[in-house]
Amino acid sequence: MSQIMQKAVATASLIALLGSTSAVAAQSSSNGQLPILGILTDTLAHIHSSAVVVDGTTFALNGDNFSYRFHVDNETGDLWSDHFGASVTGDIPFENVPAVNGWVGMPGRVRREFPDQGRGDFRIPAIRIRQSEGYTVSDLQYQSYDVIQGKPELPGLPATFGTDKDVTTLVVHLYDNYSTVAADLSYSVFPKYDAIVRSVNVTNKGKDNITIEALASMSVDFPYQDLDMISLRGDWAREAHRERRKVEYGIQGFGSSTGYSSHLHNPFLALVDPTATESRGEAWGFSLVYTGSFSVDVEKGSQGFTRALLGLNPNQLSWNLGSGETITTPECVSVYSQSGVGGMSRLFHGLYRNHLIKSKFAMKDRPVLLNSWEGLGFNYNESTIYNLAQESADLGIKLFVLDDGWFGDKYPRLSDNAGLGDWVPNPDRFPDGLDHAVNSITALKAANTSTKLRFGLWFEPEMVNPNSSLYREHPDWALHAGSYPRTERRNQLVLNVALPEVQDFIIKSVSSILSSADITYVKWDNNRGIHETPSPSTDHEYMLGMYRVFNNLTTQFPDVLWEGCASGGGRFDAGVLQYFPQIWTSDDTDAVERITIQMGTSLVYPPSAMGAHLSAVPNQQTGRSLPVAFRGHVAMMGGSFGLELDPAEIPSDDKAALPGLISLAEKVNPIILTGDMYRLSLPEDSNWPAVQFISQDASQAVLFYFQINPNINHALPWVKLQGLDPKAIYSVDGNVTYSGSVLMNVGLQFVFETDYGSQVVFIEKQ
Ligand SMILES: *[C@@H]1O[C@H](CO)[C@@H](O)[C@H](O)[C@H]1NC(C)=O
Ligand SMILES: *[C@@H]1O[C@H](CO)[C@@H](O)[C@H](O)[C@H]1NC(C)=O
Ligand SMILES: *[C@@H]1O[C@H](CO)[C@@H](O)[C@H](O)[C@H]1NC(C)=O
Ligand SMILES: *[C@@H]1O[C@H](CO)[C@@H](O)[C@H](O)[C@H]1NC(C)=O
Ligand SMILES: *[C@@H]1O[C@H](CO)[C@@H](O)[C@H](O)[C@H]1NC(C)=O
Ligand SMILES: *[C@@H]1O[C@H](CO)[C@@H](O)[C@H](O)[C@H]1NC(C)=O
Ligand SMILES: *[C@@H]1O[C@H](CO)[C@@H](O)[C@H](O)[C@H]1NC(C)=O
Ligand SMILES: *[C@@H]1O[C@H](CO)[C@@H](O)[C@H](O)[C@H]1NC(C)=O
Ligand SMILES: *[C@@H]1O[C@H](CO)[C@@H](O)[C@H](O)[C@H]1NC(C)=O
Ligand SMILES: *[C@@H]1O[C@H](CO)[C@@H](O)[C@H](O)[C@H]1NC(C)=O
Repeated sequence: MSQIMQKAVATASLIALLGSTSAVAAQSSSNGQLPILGILTDTLAHIHSSAVVVDGTTFALNGDNFSYRFHVDNETGDLWSDHFGASVTGDIPFENVPAVNGWVGMPGRVRREFPDQGRGDFRIPAIRIRQSEGYTVSDLQYQSYDVIQGKPELPGLPATFGTDKDVTTLVVHLYDNYSTVAADLSYSVFPKYDAIVRSVNVTNKGKDNITIEALASMSVDFPYQDLDMISLRGDWAREAHRERRKVEYGIQGFGSSTGYSSHLHNPFLALVDPTATESRGEAWGFSLVYTGSFSVDVEKGSQGFTRALLGLNPNQLSWNLGSGETITTPECVSVYSQSGVGGMSRLFHGLYRNHLIKSKFAMKDRPVLLNSWEGLGFNYNESTIYNLAQESADLGIKLFVLDDGWFGDKYPRLSDNAGLGDWVPNPDRFPDGLDHAVNSITALKAANTSTKLRFGLWFEPEMVNPNSSLYREHPDWALHAGSYPRTERRNQLVLNVALPEVQDFIIKSVSSILSSADITYVKWDNNRGIHETPSPSTDHEYMLGMYRVFNNLTTQFPDVLWEGCASGGGRFDAGVLQYFPQIWTSDDTDAVERITIQMGTSLVYPPSAMGAHLSAVPNQQTGRSLPVAFRGHVAMMGGSFGLELDPAEIPSDDKAALPGLISLAEKVNPIILTGDMYRLSLPEDSNWPAVQFISQDASQAVLFYFQINPNINHALPWVKLQGLDPKAIYSVDGNVTYSGSVLMNVGLQFVFETDYGSQVVFIEKQ
């Protein structure tokens, strides 16, 4: 053991040697005596000035407002967690582990950084390796570390990025000497966003194959304290409903085994102090940068510590690792805030807008669009879509999107029973070619402007109908397990995107259409879950293939505005956001439902990333009829505002309101895209849900305020704004002025005459 220590200290001295105080603290903990509190030396006083500070074998990661600490236990070479929370400087007392010789071994009674299995820790492990001999014991011990300015890319996976100034990375090298397996834990600190991004890679250094049965991207053990957990659950058309519950003793968790991040549970977890609210209290947020099956586990163990793990779903892993091979996990972003759940969300929003989304459109105004689906469905020809585009342009629309139905020659896509996989324009619908139709549409100008209409197209490239030329030629390309029936959903099968030939086919099909006409927007859909896979590891192999395709196409076509979609929000995750700056939030366009869905989605994802549309009434999903202004106001809280209706088929009053709503959406769009979001009151708590967006310099804000049920003969609530400059004077809708302190501490009041009332209010610094 002392060999390991010496080696580590030698490496450490290259980076920072901050005195010997931590050794004193370590001593106090291992004798089981009272810990030494807060030793502060001159050198340690500087600890906060650096994102990664190493003192011997004690590691400190620091953001503007958080610290994360762990150290190497010199008896075992294990990593023990010391702190994840508000900023601290100087030495901290190590956990006192009572010297009990009980059932649970020492590893099960301490807070561990990366728990392996089989040596007396009976909680959920972060890694489970089936060795070639069959056993699943491992012993990953500390070896050494490296500190890297910046952040290395994750091979084949989406990942946050930043310059040397934005981010610093600590890599901790672990090695299991009994089975010759190496693991590298990577921690990248973005100090400005109080974020640590973690991932792990495991390399088989032995001769025999091993199987990785479980591998979390990150694991964290909290001290004995009460915590609540918050997650997002749902189903198709009912995504992102916020769920908050107490963390109880035992295991509680969720995940996805659908092959995608899914509508069912989002790859996101928050742990919060039980007293935390939207604006106050400690909140820890965890978000997996991944689109496939995943698992989130929270375990409050026998000692009362809470362990949280996020990563690949162990039920769909069974990853073979041959001699010399490496597996890299997706990364998990952790943020810490003392400003409640809202503070946590704003950290994610800022980080994701600036350091995750690669598209040049990430913070650029989005064109207001009209999508043909709810208006025309599968029933159109070149002249009917031209007419719809013309009507759209007359309303002030800037982007016309042609949805499903434009492709298939031998098996034309006239309904959902044929054509998927045959990505050639339907010659009956486009006798002069797709580019002819596109040219006539992009020659139109948005009403009273010189802006030419843009053209967008729908694809579902990962799918195939058995009724297609592609399936006739390559039945083996569809996912299947031996002779089990290939279960169809919506008459379609899923292509095995793990196969390089399938990836190349998709790249070629999509690029040839995009090169054939002036197409500047793509809606990439995906409408079914994955089952009957040839092997459990197919899920992750599929994702690696899909990321290769996304990376290839978005690199080839950087001027295209890409939108992700999976029957609505079935793939609303940080993995997709790396490539696509916006995602269709839900197939449910009922505006009351959407308030809940969009507020839930905003727990982790920036509003700039949400697609939200005003659709016709009665609503196709709920049958409810809401006022056009209410529908418009809810939809313009998403970064990509649009219409999903046939203007010719809606009441004339509603139609007359559209140009005004479109220009209002364009006016608020820059603040939605780049501002900070405050959820002032939540739809689950209040009849008056309210959301505020405010520019980074606090000079401009916009308030969205709604009344759901009527309010008869009862006082009205005041809505208190947040994030303003208390001393500055702000105008409210241009007619009255109040100080920031009045707007934040007294608030504003609004009167609604009816149910489903809505207000959009501009607040501008004078
Ligand atoms: C571990 O560290 C403690 C405190 O520094 C020390 O007392 C003990 O001798 C060390 N044990 C080993 C095996 O090095
Ligand atoms: C971080 O702390 C500073 C002062 O300590 C404060 O001004 C700032 O608002 C905090 N940032 C966040 C994101 O909480
Ligand atoms: C590694 O394991 C071997 C036995 O497998 C042992 O002889 C050797 O001392 C170990 N090395 C270290 C550094 O623990
Ligand atoms: C494992 O990850 C570390 C940190 O990112 C990296 O330096 C190393 O090259 C990776 N190893 C392999 C084999 O990919
Ligand atoms: C061992 O791993 C290699 C490399 O991944 C693979 O080609 C081979 O099929 C594996 N062998 C067995 C018996 O699983
Ligand atoms: C397109 O469809 C419309 C409405 O069904 C029809 O009136 C028109 O003749 C069609 N045009 C062509 C070129 O088929
Ligand atoms: C365009 O201008 C005309 C004439 O001023 C006006 O009637 C019409 O409403 C405007 N259209 C839009 C979409 O602003
Ligand atoms: C296959 O597609 C064709 C053309 O769209 C359609 O006529 C036929 O009914 C479809 N067959 C099946 C089995 O769905
Ligand atoms: C995209 O993939 C094709 C092969 O399918 C390859 O020829 C091309 O170089 C790739 N382009 C990019 C930008 O990755
Ligand atoms: C500001 O004036 C407009 C009409 O010009 C009115 O609709 C709105 O309610 C006023 N706002 C406030 C806060 O008084």
